[in-house]
Amino acid sequence: MDHATQVELTRELFGHIDAKTTCLLDDLTPNPISAFASVERLKREQEILFRNHGLVMGMSCQLPEPGSYMTDDYSGVSILIVRADDGQARAFINVCSHRGSKVVDGCGRGQRAFSCPYHGWTYDLGGKLVGIPDRDSFAGLDVAAHGLRELPVVEKYGLIWVRPSPGAPVDVDIQLGGLAPELASYSLDKYHHFDTRVLKHKMNWKVAIDTFLEPYHFAVLHANTVGPIFFPNLCLFRPFGNNLREVLPRRSIQQLRDQPEADWDLISHTAIVYILFPNTVLVMGPDHAEVWRVFPCNDRVDECVMSLEFYIPEPATTDSAQGHWERSLDLTIRTVIEEDFPIGEGIQAGMKSGALDALVYGRNEPALAHFQRSVTAALK
Ligand code: FES
Ligand SMILES: [Fe+2]
Repeated sequence: MDHATQVELTRELFGHIDAKTTCLLDDLTPNPISAFASVERLKREQEILFRNHGLVMGMSCQLPEPGSYMTDDYSGVSILIVRADDGQARAFINVCSHRGSKVVDGCGRGQRAFSCPYHGWTYDLGGKLVGIPDRDSFAGLDVAAHGLRELPVVEKYGLIWVRPSPGAPVDVDIQLGGLAPELASYSLDKYHHFDTRVLKHKMNWKVAIDTFLEPYHFAVLHANTVGPIFFPNLCLFRPFGNNLREVLPRRSIQQLRDQPEADWDLISHTAIVYILFPNTVLVMGPDHAEVWRVFPCNDRVDECVMSLEFYIPEPATTDSAQGHWERSLDLTIRTVIEEDFPIGEGIQAGMKSGALDALVYGRNEPALAHFQRSVTAALK
């Protein structure tokens, strides 16, 4: 985030702190329960958002050099992402063109080719079929047409996006709705992957994302944990197309009042939450970045799977650094697992009760309202 924006947002925050206000929408936003409980709606979300939209797969550091690869099955399509010999990221459907076996699992480095575990057909880093055991038995096969099926991939601003269906390229800048320069300013391409945790919970994927989108709950739900660190019920919100930025100020921001504006560093005194539409929550903290990627699970409206990738500015090369980041990651996970997600699972269970026809978002929950509205609008 450029310094002028940091100053502008800090001033805005001081105004709200002094007036005991927060960023407000003009109206309440109702959201029908069917948005979280309708099987028909989930099918549309899967088709439109999780098959035909560019999805963040992670940061560039996860593919550090040619021969690095990772796989990702969360969208419902098994995806293989590779750093090819020319340094470019390539993505493929992770399905062997012989009889459809999954070609590779997990992630790794230093790979020269991928050999299918079933009969050993082998593909190079560009997805080309380069090896067929007992080739004579496949005489007449159009080998060139039997590479791995390629998917559109974009690597920009330190992030990698893939659309899980083949076809035209993904235009990430259009998708980002004007957020690209701000994203670029963080130099995410210099971050290092520390660890990934996978969480499964019994709630709609959007209920999981909602827990990141308002600080109205901080003073109540997080009263004895992270709540006191932040100003409760105070956030700044800005939409960027379907994406958004939410700034959550820490109480320490008051220190900036004694410093010249030229020295103001907003990032050190906030958590900045971005929704990279449709399903990625990027949290920029003072010392690390989190990428939460949230997906429907098992084709159920009430189950989701989240991959939390934790990124740090320098590699953790000593035991003490390793310990520091493990504690930081554990604290992050513990707060959501012990406090936010049990509430989310309760909300999902309550939706079955018939008690409510709709949820209502207050004027003080603008990010939440924008996210839910954007998802609904994208399905039309
Ligand atoms: S299914 Fe892959 S080699 Fe047969
Ligand atoms: Fe929370």
